[in-house]
Amino acid sequence: MKDLSEKRESFAGSMTAIMAMAGSAVGLGNLWRFPYLMGENGGATFIAIYLLLAIFICLPIILVEFIIGRRSQKNIYGAFEVLAPGKPWKLIGICCTLAPILVLSFYSVVGGWSINYLLKALSFSFTGENSNPEYLSSLFSNFVTDPYKPLLFHTLFLGMTAVIVAVGVKKGIERFSKIVMPLLFVMIIIIVVKAVTLPGSSAGLNYIFKPDFSKVTSETVLKALGQAFFSLSLGCGTMVTYASYVGRKENLLKCSAGTVFFDTIFALLAGCAIMPAVFAYGINPSEGPGLVFVTLPHIFSQMTAGGPVAIIFFFSLLIAALTSSISLLEVLTALLTEELHLKRTWAVVISFFLFWILGAACSLSQGVLSDVLVFGKNIFDLFDYISANILMLAGGLLLTIFVGWALGKKVIREELTNDGSLRVPPVLLQTIVFLIRYVAPAAIIAIFIFQTIS
Ligand code: PFF
Repeated sequence: MKDLSEKRESFAGSMTAIMAMAGSAVGLGNLWRFPYLMGENGGATFIAIYLLLAIFICLPIILVEFIIGRRSQKNIYGAFEVLAPGKPWKLIGICCTLAPILVLSFYSVVGGWSINYLLKALSFSFTGENSNPEYLSSLFSNFVTDPYKPLLFHTLFLGMTAVIVAVGVKKGIERFSKIVMPLLFVMIIIIVVKAVTLPGSSAGLNYIFKPDFSKVTSETVLKALGQAFFSLSLGCGTMVTYASYVGRKENLLKCSAGTVFFDTIFALLAGCAIMPAVFAYGINPSEGPGLVFVTLPHIFSQMTAGGPVAIIFFFSLLIAALTSSISLLEVLTALLTEELHLKRTWAVVISFFLFWILGAACSLSQGVLSDVLVFGKNIFDLFDYISANILMLAGGLLLTIFVGWALGKKVIREELTNDGSLRVPPVLLQTIVFLIRYVAPAAIIAIFIFQTIS
């Protein structure tokens, strides 16, 4: 096959590629959703189910995205022109471009909230009378409903994302991920150590790790799969785009297994950092913004050395959100530079304005635009719903069908063995082909049906 990689930037090696891809995967989903889901859905049993799904369903889908990206060395739209010229598969590219546009719009708003809370933590604001839950709850709702402040922080967060992406794949995305990903792991481990040494923390560990089969239903399996999908950034074109910067000599199996490994370990660490502290202070665990922006600041205010812990936590949240948002912005940037031949800086500037407007609509939908409802949802929730429940799943399904059936076994084998130069046991290859062709599409269709019914 013709080598199209000459003029493109590429990641230095498989470890840097894994750092960038794990950066895309590790994000708000790990910090505010996974710990709660673990506790609510049967603890260790949920973890076991999650791991099985991550390995047997999500890993094949990541591989599919890596195969498309690395083989085409193109953006999510152009990839289909290279791999299946003149055929209608390009429509998948449109679906996979829409998803990151919607995700980044609301993600950037929450990224902005984390900057605000990091600044509050840095000025030791969660102390004394400012630490009671009612105050913290009204502080949060007053902030997010304010018409101006969240917009300012959304602008700042999106600006930081844009600068990193504008600097380039190697000097921006790769360098940033290489520095901050290890730092992120160190910081979460510090919080874990602090949390598990609090008196009464064992109840939290019990909550997330104690196996409870009675809480496991078919719904649990689908919840775990939905979470794994969002957490691993599947069906969004981000993995295809990042894989297009992976060199021909790198081992795709190693890159995908590394990404799943780091994302899952981080999610488990997040559980061990958050739930023991929540239980040590006798608070009910909740999901989402309430946990991160109300419950945790209250907990930090109660613990010794809570001030520095709060700083580390909100800094981690910001970094985790940034490494994900740069991957989302890169999807559109790569597309604009390659398909419309724009300079990278212009592509980023145009994308910035698009995301700024959509993000502003999401931000204002918490306050002044809260009456604007579509299908009973405000703009923020609507973007979240359409991307996570429809577009990402549809993208994942179409991508697996494309690789499993249109490209076929031969291409899968060529990519996983680097044209025969890597030794991959034939049984493993056959299993992967089977998972890509039958199991992964069936699982995605099952989530669709489950969501439509419920
Ligand atoms: N995986 C990210 C998280 O868990 O927060 C969210 C995400 C990033 C979804 C990038 C989709 C994506 F393309």
